[in-house]
Amino acid sequence: MTPTATLPAPSSPAESAQAVPGPTPATLRPDTLLAHVGRCRSSTQGAVNPAVVRASTVLFDSVAAMRSAQQGYEGFRYGRYGTPTTRQLEQAYATLEGADGAVAVSSGFAAIVTALQAFVRPGDHILVSDGVYEPARRFCLTRLAEQGVEVEFFPPREGAAIARRLRPQTRLVYLEAPSSITFELHDVPAIVDAVRQGDGMRPAPTVLLLDNTWATSLFYRPLDLGVDVVVQAATKYVVGHADAMLGLVAARDTYFPALRRAAIDGGFSASPDDAYLGLRGLRTLSVRLERHQRNALAVASWLERRPEVERVLYPALPSHPDHAIWRRDFRGASGLFSVVLKPVTEERVVRFIDSLHLFGIGFCWGGYESLVSPEPVQAGRDPATLGLNGPLVRLHVGLEDPADLIADLEGALRHLAPAPAATVGGAV
Ligand SMILES: Cc1ncc(COP(=O)(O)O)c(C=O)c1O
Repeated sequence: MTPTATLPAPSSPAESAQAVPGPTPATLRPDTLLAHVGRCRSSTQGAVNPAVVRASTVLFDSVAAMRSAQQGYEGFRYGRYGTPTTRQLEQAYATLEGADGAVAVSSGFAAIVTALQAFVRPGDHILVSDGVYEPARRFCLTRLAEQGVEVEFFPPREGAAIARRLRPQTRLVYLEAPSSITFELHDVPAIVDAVRQGDGMRPAPTVLLLDNTWATSLFYRPLDLGVDVVVQAATKYVVGHADAMLGLVAARDTYFPALRRAAIDGGFSASPDDAYLGLRGLRTLSVRLERHQRNALAVASWLERRPEVERVLYPALPSHPDHAIWRRDFRGASGLFSVVLKPVTEERVVRFIDSLHLFGIGFCWGGYESLVSPEPVQAGRDPATLGLNGPLVRLHVGLEDPADLIADLEGALRHLAPAPAATVGGAV
């Protein structure tokens, strides 16, 4: 089914008879698409939302029908390859990313592994941004390296200078926007240009892969900038309510079949219930992201002025070193950023975090609620060379009233204040 077919048809034959040609995904604006993509009224008996089709076994009317379902990807033949619920999410996401196809898998990490395994083979060289999600970095250094892949890391701000690292065997360049924990941005158009200029010397063009979890396809459109494959930890903003694990990977036609094959070969299928939650999350993604952005800007700007804070690493702030790239390439920012504190003992940082009431202490992010976690920079990166002299704390700003969040932070920040000097001569 093409993405066009994911828009709902007119509701009755009478309406249909008079219908003028309807809108297509190409003519609709993102907010309208979010409300309509991936819905298929004919299969829901009129319900607004799709039914959740849970299945392992699928029954066929005949051997011919069974064989026909085995042709191509769309056919519904066995639960592990996806059910109609999964397909609706995949089509919706492909439309939103401007891709020709998407695959839903069991987690954001599975989406990254799917993309790497789809393209990388023994003997290849890959370039991986120093800022990628830590478990993915570990996967490259262990599993891929064991398979004979040469893994080279590069600093996220390298831009066009990445050209000097490209070799005839460079099969893939892996980016994340922005970097996990440290929030640097890549100059993606410059990297795309450098990679494309060298493609002629390689047996196959280098695949550009980007993790778009932070901004989502609403605020950042990597395929439009020349990236080939986009992954999304849909566990975060797409699901949006901290209650499902889900990953998505999307590409144009050239690369989509390999992605689909890798997801099937890896057995990474998404659960239909989680796919449903992903589809439902898409409907409110725009309003949630706008509010996350507004709240995060209020909290980040307030934190920036605090004496306990060295720097706030949030690309939407004018003080961020990559703010110009963010303004040029992004349509917005989400609710996640890091705060570099002035040098202080770890014990005080722990007390600061433990005394917050409205920020839950937890991994993950992208749900409606605020979160906090102490974050070391990725293994292998040197905080000193990154100019990070104090402890790093990551905040996810949720949908609460930012005035309440700021009041909570203000109360907890007193644990970071230097201890009062002992009074000479004893206290009165
Ligand atoms: C940027 C990024 N990509 C991918 C993932 C992995 O997603 P999941 O937890 O769904 O496996 C995460 C998880 O935190 C992430 O932050």
